[in-house]
Amino acid sequence: MGEQPHHWGWADLHAWQVLRPLTEAGGYLPWSEGSMSPAGLAAVANEVAYAERRTIVELGSGVSTVLLARLAGQLGGRIWAVEHHPGWAGWVRRSLARDGLGDVATVLDAPLEPHPGALGGAPWYAAAALEELPSDGIELLLVDGPPGYGDGMARSRYPALPALSGRLADGALVVLDDAQREGEGQILDAWERDEGFTFDRRAAERIAIGRRVEDG
Ligand SMILES: C[S@@+](CC[C@H](N)C(=O)[O-])C[C@H]1O[C@@H](n2cnc3c(N)ncnc32)[C@H](O)[C@@H]1O
Repeated sequence: MGEQPHHWGWADLHAWQVLRPLTEAGGYLPWSEGSMSPAGLAAVANEVAYAERRTIVELGSGVSTVLLARLAGQLGGRIWAVEHHPGWAGWVRRSLARDGLGDVATVLDAPLEPHPGALGGAPWYAAAALEELPSDGIELLLVDGPPGYGDGMARSRYPALPALSGRLADGALVVLDDAQREGEGQILDAWERDEGFTFDRRAAERIAIGRRVEDG
């Protein structure tokens, strides 16, 4: 996939046990270096289960989409996943269908295109696809795409918050994966500066979890 390989730590091994009800609730999932770490995914799943976040949007789909859809299906939630790669979107859709989750999760095809608000000229998801996302009430926004590797892509995820903050529910949570990378660190600094959010950078989970400053 082009990502730098990372190794699971103790937090991931613990999270793997925590996630068992989800990993065992359906068919085989091809975890890879491009997948969220188990620790990061368990932190997100906790927010869905405990804080009752039911309207979920994910940018960059994969194993995480299927696992979160399994959880949302158990709890009465819905997830929309935005995906730029048609072949990968097809795999995610087939996996969801195999697990009977076609009504719980929707994968939206969104080719990458030039974006006026990009940092460093990186492309972002096509505007037309985003029209199919909920127009308001998003309780959890998980940002794990576009890919952060490749020429000019290090800060490719920046447009997520400027583009979607107006659709977030009061008290919504924003999660950025790969938060330990330099490019994602710059994105977090820019979101805090430009968007009025504050982020908790969690090294062991490789994510940052943020909320509007005014939400406390
Ligand atoms: C960081 S990945 C998203 C991973 C996803 N959120 C997860 O945790 O499984 C960003 C993009 O890489 C691509 N991708 C993810 N997993 C892949 C795989 N195993 N093989 C090929 N492409 C993959 C998809 O286009 C995805 O949108």
